[in-house]
Amino acid sequence: MNLKQMAGEKACEAVRNGTVVGLGTGSTVHFTIVKLGQMVREGLDIIGIPTSIRSELLAKEVGIKLTTLDEHPEVDVTIDGADEVDPNLDLIKGLGGALVREKMVASASLREVIVVDGSKMVQKLGTRSPLPVEIIQFCSGRTLKVIESLGGRPVIRMTEGEAYITDNGNFICDVHFPDGIEDPKGMEIALNNTPGIVDNGLFLGITTSVVIARDGELEIQGQPLG
Ligand code: 5RP
Repeated sequence: MNLKQMAGEKACEAVRNGTVVGLGTGSTVHFTIVKLGQMVREGLDIIGIPTSIRSELLAKEVGIKLTTLDEHPEVDVTIDGADEVDPNLDLIKGLGGALVREKMVASASLREVIVVDGSKMVQKLGTRSPLPVEIIQFCSGRTLKVIESLGGRPVIRMTEGEAYITDNGNFICDVHFPDGIEDPKGMEIALNNTPGIVDNGLFLGITTSVVIARDGELEIQGQPLG
């Protein structure tokens, strides 16, 4: 079994019967959603809130009933991936392009369980991954200049020669920090105070547990899953 599958499946132990479950996005949580589908077929009663169109399609395919934050504003547990996890369990997310919906669902969740392989663990945020920032298309050049003035090097994300468009119809810029992010909280506030920025991939003080698969072993940091 590969490391992503080990972590993704292990996190299903955090899911209790009769609960509302946030369904993250990415190649690790893919295994969580598939496993939850199997558990549903075996009798588990849950209702899921997907964080992307991709996860919505997968959840439907495996037979998980779905709802929305409008119908269920409180989520019992969300399971999601991450691009970086630091020693405080703060995160960078969004290389999969779903950071806005992921943060909305995470902020409505009583527990946020993150599933990663060991390569995502870092001492300082921004040293392994760029910081994804979702920006509206209107005058995006100006928004990039403001991000540059904050010390980052923003690059509009491209796919097959075209700008990548999120599920919300926006661009993503991946912001590179040559020495990492010195003050993640300050950066989060500065980015979110910038008109034209929808949200950014810093998830600070949100994670309750991290499931790490490394060298064929599983480790839980933060709260136990059960
Ligand atoms: C999507 C995300 C993903 O959870 C993150 O990119 C990790 O993905 P993967 O498990 O494929 O490495 O934040 O917006």
